[in-house]
Amino acid sequence: MSSSPSENKVTTRTFRVKKAQGDVLTMLTAYDYPTAVAVDKAGIDSILVGDSLGMVVLGYQNTLPVTMEEMLHHCRAVSRGASRALLIGDMPFMSYQASVGDAVRNAGRFLQEAGMDAVKLEGGEERLEEIRAILDAGIPVLGHLGLTPQSVHQLGGFKAQGKTAAAAYELLEDSLRLEEAGCFGIVLESVPARLANFVSSQLKIPTIGIGAGAGCDGQVLVTHDLLGLFDAFVPKFVKQYASLHQDMSQAFLSYKEEVEQGLFPEEKHTFSIPEEEWDLFLARVEEDDRG
Ligand code: KIV
Repeated sequence: MSSSPSENKVTTRTFRVKKAQGDVLTMLTAYDYPTAVAVDKAGIDSILVGDSLGMVVLGYQNTLPVTMEEMLHHCRAVSRGASRALLIGDMPFMSYQASVGDAVRNAGRFLQEAGMDAVKLEGGEERLEEIRAILDAGIPVLGHLGLTPQSVHQLGGFKAQGKTAAAAYELLEDSLRLEEAGCFGIVLESVPARLANFVSSQLKIPTIGIGAGAGCDGQVLVTHDLLGLFDAFVPKFVKQYASLHQDMSQAFLSYKEEVEQGLFPEEKHTFSIPEEEWDLFLARVEEDDRG
């Protein structure tokens, strides 16, 4: 699979155009080469290398332990597999919160070292300085509001957000602030569908919903959830389009049984040596007196 730019490469402009035309945007996460190839081939508009990889690939309890090096490693694999989709690298916890300088340098690494087209980071008003500085460096930013998993301890768990009038109003204000700052879109995670629909109607940039209903301008899911590959828990907003964890477990069991029963490998899985070479080999063994 080539990583040369595709003719119909999706860009942040595509996001603006699709929103203006009322066309829905599609986004999925990917963390490795084969998944990126498949997602790109399916014509999904955008691939997010989410820090959700900490939970669904690396087995952490939440996204907080994920490092820049882990993110860059997975982003590089994804960028080798996708040529059309807009590639977005998720800035991990503490890669942008401590200083504006850190934020710009780390955002730059996603583009310079890992083949990403844009970055995503969590937060509203409290992150505006970092977002503006990253944008000033020429790096497109996707915002992320609502349930922001890097603040899981502050939020008291993975809970839906924006359920009071005050919280809903704050989310609307933050969305407008992110748009004004120059973000090319905003992920809305786990917010009431009514609120997400209203916010989407107030913005010129697209909203990408996850657990935010059909009124958003686009949808994103964690691919391991969609495939039924992550089985620790299934969030309410997930639709499983496959049962890959079950399929994988069944395949491993079948392999074990067949190997143990001598059913695998079969003749067709083996290589042959020409008869005359085999005879020469045996003659040599005999000569050595090993036979
Ligand atoms: O990390 C991630 O995959 C995300 C999506 C859930 C939007 O942030």
